Amino acid sequence: MKTIIADLTADSLKQAGQILRGGGLVAFPTETVYGLGGDALQPEASRKIYAAKGRPSDNPLIVHIAYPEEAEPLAETNELYYRLADAFMPGPLTVILPKKDCVPSETTGGLSSVALRCPAHAGAHALLVEAGVPIAAPSANLSGSPSPTCAAHVIHDLDGRVDMILDGGESEVGVESTIVKIEGDSLLLLRPGGITVEDLRRVTPQVTVAPAVTGRLAEGERPLSPGMKYRHYAPRAPLTLLDGDYTARLCFMREQAHRAEVALICPDEMAEEIGPCTARVFRCGHETDMASQAHRLFAALREADASGAAEIYAAKPGTEGIGLALYNRLIRASAYHIRQL
Ligand code: TXA
Ligand code: MG
Repeated sequence: MKTIIADLTADSLKQAGQILRGGGLVAFPTETVYGLGGDALQPEASRKIYAAKGRPSDNPLIVHIAYPEEAEPLAETNELYYRLADAFMPGPLTVILPKKDCVPSETTGGLSSVALRCPAHAGAHALLVEAGVPIAAPSANLSGSPSPTCAAHVIHDLDGRVDMILDGGESEVGVESTIVKIEGDSLLLLRPGGITVEDLRRVTPQVTVAPAVTGRLAEGERPLSPGMKYRHYAPRAPLTLLDGDYTARLCFMREQAHRAEVALICPDEMAEEIGPCTARVFRCGHETDMASQAHRLFAALREADASGAAEIYAAKPGTEGIGLALYNRLIRASAYHIRQL
């Protein structure tokens, strides 16, 4: 199919709304990553999303809404949902609740729960209002590759496979939303993201981090979130995470600097210190500013991969704040390959 590619304007939003209501697919920017949207209440639209991404159809989709109250027809809400909504919506938080009948099982991968998110991005919000339907949207990448943080990434993966791609520039956060499941008075963190564990604990002290966030699923273990069982964010070349302080990592990166087949993902200041070299160097934000690293993470992985490098090296992040989201994505992208320095 011919994919329409357009900047965000009143006209393109109107056209995108029509496509969505007609059961078509529109990729659109959000503050986390780009999403591949379809009408969440049309089973056929969800089927098209799985087909366009090459995604297994038991991996449920996140349903995007324009306002927190739009959860009412879709899910069994509760008091904790509205406390989370007051604190973090619109924003990079997804909440899992029991679903109501109108949400087709195609959208929820056969589960009796539904994931709801109210994005903060002005373009995403305008699209939701224009479409007038809840929008099911996974990240707008081919299944298994890093999530897209700009329209060029989406075009690379999905041109010819979707009806329209809306270009809204770079995604600000750069990693996908935080996913929590409400269990009584407590929260179970299924995926770390832009809203940190520390943020969540300000709303309720009972926050448990699912073990699969920081570790591997045991053989035969049933994942709490279907997405946990799939290999994610994987560059083609093997990625190794370096566990060591700045000086130890700089020393390692310098040793690799003469190797043309190597890609080094380094903080900006380390890239400066290494200077011009034979290895390919990709900047990933500031050493001490984890938000800037989250913003650059997926682009740096895609750039390193596109360079054709045979080996990729990056720092193993700490797990505080948004660092936990970086750690979670990078240990998967590296298939748990960590090198102690
Ligand atoms: O930031 C984001 O969340 C982006 C943007 C587009 O909003 N979307 C996104 O969607 O990252 P996706 O499909 O790539 O990741 C959704 C994750 C999957 O791991 C899926 O298994 C999980 O959410 N999920 C969805 N519904 C669920 C449910 N009912 N129970 C448990 N996990 C669920
Ligand atoms: Mg995804």
